[in-house]
Amino acid sequence: FWFLLGRRRRRQGEPPLENGFLPYLGCALQFGANPLEFLREKREKHGHIFTCRVAGKYIHFLTDPFSYHALIRQGKHLDWKKFHFATSAKAFGHGSIDPAEGNTTENFHQTFIRTLQGNALDALIEAMMENLQYVMLQSRTSKLQSNTWVTEGLYTFCCQVMFESGFLTLFGKEFNSNNDKNPSLKQETERAHILKALENFKEFDRIFPALVAGLPIHLFKSAHSAREKLGEALLHKNLLKRDNLSELVTLRMFLNDTLSTFDDMEKAKTHVAVLWASQANTIPATFWSLFYLLKSPEAMRAATKEVQSTLESAGQKINLDGNHISLNRKQLDNMPVLDSIIKEAMRLSSASMTFRVAKEDFTLHLENDFYNIRSDDIVALYPQLLHFDPEIYADPLTFKYDRFLNENGEEKTDFYRNGRKLKYYYMPFGTGIAKCPGRLFAVHEIKQFLVLIFSYFEIELVDNNVQCPSLDQSRAGLGILQPANDIDFRYRLKCL
Ligand code: HEM
Repeated sequence: FWFLLGRRRRRQGEPPLENGFLPYLGCALQFGANPLEFLREKREKHGHIFTCRVAGKYIHFLTDPFSYHALIRQGKHLDWKKFHFATSAKAFGHGSIDPAEGNTTENFHQTFIRTLQGNALDALIEAMMENLQYVMLQSRTSKLQSNTWVTEGLYTFCCQVMFESGFLTLFGKEFNSNNDKNPSLKQETERAHILKALENFKEFDRIFPALVAGLPIHLFKSAHSAREKLGEALLHKNLLKRDNLSELVTLRMFLNDTLSTFDDMEKAKTHVAVLWASQANTIPATFWSLFYLLKSPEAMRAATKEVQSTLESAGQKINLDGNHISLNRKQLDNMPVLDSIIKEAMRLSSASMTFRVAKEDFTLHLENDFYNIRSDDIVALYPQLLHFDPEIYADPLTFKYDRFLNENGEEKTDFYRNGRKLKYYYMPFGTGIAKCPGRLFAVHEIKQFLVLIFSYFEIELVDNNVQCPSLDQSRAGLGILQPANDIDFRYRLKCL
């Protein structure tokens, strides 16, 4: 009978099971509507581990943070690649990047670590600092000229500035030939191209959750065409016309050409995947960091003070005569207040989900008990449960800018639950082997954005009493959630 309904029966030694009411979908709709509430309710009912049937799959949720390391320690039974690789291929439209399937022998994860961390990160930070100032100041001169206030949507602003600067940092600038007579026209054209790419990015990103859920892109005509246009912009022959490509893109182009059998468009689509990964979470994380700062005068005072003293000790003067501010990685790393603000903003807005697929039937050993897991089942963590746990973070829905600072004003790392110190208390970047390789760059670029905003601009919300926008739950599981609506703010150049 159970089999006919497409449902499984709980066997001895398995976690408590929630089949849900709907055939095939199981708990998918309830989970999708509000994952946090759903998981809290099930934890209340079943305890720290339970299994939910979601769209034909069986997902075992581990909700006790002291069990999180089980997922990492028992990695030999769990696969992180298959789902990631298959999702990337489906969403971006390239062939399989799983070396086992023969299209490429590149180890993508290694490429990312090599080109986003270590020495490569210094170059990215340097380029981003330059590009952010170019985008904030030069490319917006028409708006900023008369020193009057400019009013805009905060999300729209963060989106434009971060996309344009991030794009230039990874994919370089269009080649400036020596006989080019009109550089400002060239800049305008280049800017128009990037803003077009941003429109295509947004169109595609809107349906990203549907693609991850398994719907084919052909159902979404305009998003499909947006993805193809992004692919065209990132064809190798077009990238070769650009200066200052990042090490990440240069190496990926080389490995596409030497280790893969991808055709030109498939190669380009692997770059679309990198573009998406580099922007989709960074943009909302930047928005939330700036929004909470603007809402909290106390945070603003502490941040401005830190920015001023960092600039002073680096011997940097703010002016508008074309000499840009430069801060290196070490100087940026020594800004604990901004670190805490960014962390707190991400704690409040992150809804990533970590999951692994069981390679075979095995026994999952947790702290005090163990459970049988079947082959192909999914074992998952949903860290928002942790981020919003009032025992770990008192008053968890409130933004406290110094939550991640200790009494000496340095990074706080001791967080407790049931009187025990937690190893895992902050996880917007995932954990274990598939942890985001761009996380260091991401935090640096948000920090650079904030330093520059406070250096060059006066900035305020149009309505200081504006309500905090709610989180758009349609992207739950995929990373930093976007605000459900935009917020008006205004800014003008400081009189320097
Ligand atoms: C993967 C979060 C920014 C590059 C991921 C994952 C998460 C994440 C949760 C998946 C980890 C897992 O499956 O367990 C974030 C957040 C960011 C951010 C919250 C910003 C606030 C960036 C940036 C870059 C980047 C700026 C690159 C420039 C990547 C790549 C992957 C990834 C390439 C795939 C890694 C792999 O499969 O090997 N990110 N990310 N991310 N991220 Fe980020």
